[in-house]
Amino acid sequence: MQGTEKNDRINIAIDGPAGAGKSTVARMVANKLQYIYVDTGAMYRAVTWYMLNEGISSENPDKVLQIAQNMVIELQPHENGQLVLLNGEDVTPYIRSHQVSSEVSRYAQIEGLRNQLVDLQRQMALRKGVVMDGRDIGTTVLPDAEVKIFMTASVKERALRRFNELGTAEGVSLEQLELDIATRDRLDQEREVSPLRCAEDAIVLDTTEMSIHQVVEAILSYCTIQKDGEN
Ligand code: DC
Repeated sequence: MQGTEKNDRINIAIDGPAGAGKSTVARMVANKLQYIYVDTGAMYRAVTWYMLNEGISSENPDKVLQIAQNMVIELQPHENGQLVLLNGEDVTPYIRSHQVSSEVSRYAQIEGLRNQLVDLQRQMALRKGVVMDGRDIGTTVLPDAEVKIFMTASVKERALRRFNELGTAEGVSLEQLELDIATRDRLDQEREVSPLRCAEDAIVLDTTEMSIHQVVEAILSYCTIQKDGEN
């Protein structure tokens, strides 16, 4: 929102493991507050999709960096969520494939690539009024975010949510998704650079038994408490 409300705006960081429902919730919170939603996972996914297409392995970080430095990544609001543009091309339809999902953590471990994307993410949040979701937002990207949420849910529940989202079109079983999610958790938590971890001042929301609506309402109430505290 522009104008007189400007000083009221805060930044909201939403972190958590794969499939916890962060992006759905973050988008709804952003809509409600008229804030900008930034899906940082989509940025790592777009880079991964491009590298896989070009045959550039995550085991060749120098090459990945060399190519990534010349990439232009943009996020554009859209009625169905958010569009990811890579060098001007809309790559949104490709970045959630099973192949990208299984490879993305390996590219996301490359330190130089993370630095590049973190810089971009910080620029996006400079004017406040941003809801940003990812793995390292509250700890690294926006350590000063006024509201920090760490959303989680059991591996079983997260796999089930992904399964329902993907449908049967990709032919991936629920068991396979559970294994993939557990592997991704491990890679995201164990990597040396900006691992997935809960910021000390984050509010932990275990959403295993919560509806999306309940999670959104909880986050909005923390935002209100935070704003009231500032006034
Ligand atoms: O949120 P997502 O599942 O779309 O994220 C895809 C991958 O990107 C995830 O496995 C870890 C990585 N990621 C990251 O390392 N840091 C972020 N801030 C966001 C995502």
